[in-house]
Amino acid sequence: MELNTIGVVGCGLMGSGIAEVCARAGYRVVVREINEAFLQNGLGRIQQSLGKAVARGKLSQEQADQAMERIQGTVYLADLGGCDLVVEAAIENMDLKKEIFAELDKLLAPHAILASNTSSLCITEMASVTQRGDKVLGIHFFNPVPVMPLIEFVRTILTSDETMAITRAFGASLGKTMVTAKDTPGFIVNRLIIPYLLQVVQIYEDGLATKEDIDAAIKLGMAHPMGPLTLLDFIGLDTTLFIADAMYDEFKDPRYAAPPLLRRMVLAGQLGRKSGKGFYDYP
Ligand code: CAA
Repeated sequence: MELNTIGVVGCGLMGSGIAEVCARAGYRVVVREINEAFLQNGLGRIQQSLGKAVARGKLSQEQADQAMERIQGTVYLADLGGCDLVVEAAIENMDLKKEIFAELDKLLAPHAILASNTSSLCITEMASVTQRGDKVLGIHFFNPVPVMPLIEFVRTILTSDETMAITRAFGASLGKTMVTAKDTPGFIVNRLIIPYLLQVVQIYEDGLATKEDIDAAIKLGMAHPMGPLTLLDFIGLDTTLFIADAMYDEFKDPRYAAPPLLRRMVLAGQLGRKSGKGFYDYP
């Protein structure tokens, strides 16, 4: 099956990145936000990222303009009705995702594939509100989407071989490297990195070292692109806590239990870059 038009639900940080890489790969893209202000903000982010790619010599100005022209923004879910594949990148709320999946299942043609970019929620539960469980999977991108080369594919016990084959060809057409995981919270990357990040917050809370020294140790001693506290601010402390709680809920394993400081920082609105303050300040 040929995929021509890709739908993206949500034009936040992840949704805008997904829309951008799809348009850059030559697909027509319909991206839906819940209101005009959020949509314009998301489209502006795509324009800015395309501009950065041109400035860095990754794209010509003509390619960037063509990519932007392939993207249609909308505030109506019904406008995604003609898509061959829809990637849902709305907020991490299962009730909302189930509403979106149930509605899209009615709108889309029978051949269309429905994917979620969730980082921790159960894909099988989203599939359960549709009549097309064999065509539902997780397609998990990494932030910043145009830069990070990985996609995690999440296969449920319902997902068909055909759906996997079609979406793997799609991932390859975006120039990404793909890995496949079972439908359990955190998949591969977060299953491994969340216990590490929680441990980092714990040792910082215990006073083992300053935040600068913890970050320098891992950045320079391990050649990571960012120290772990900078990475926590980049991912978002609320997102990290959400994923940790989802993993703890499922596995009841203390490795996924959030340390008190993380929960308190989220309660205090210190979410990282997005709120202007996390472990560091972002004026
Ligand atoms: N389009 C194309 N390429 C772009 C681009 C764009 N919009 N913006 C930047 N790039 C390219 C640059 O040209 C550069 O490429 P070269 O190395 O070939 O020159 C490269 O991307 C790095 O860009 P910058 O120099 O601007 O940025 P940097 O060197 O400061 O790196 C970073 C920034 C990529 C964010 C880096 O710090 C990094 O990799 N950090 C870790 C990010 C990470 O771990 N992300 C995953 C988070 S977890 C997640 O997303 C999932 C989840 O479920 C929580």
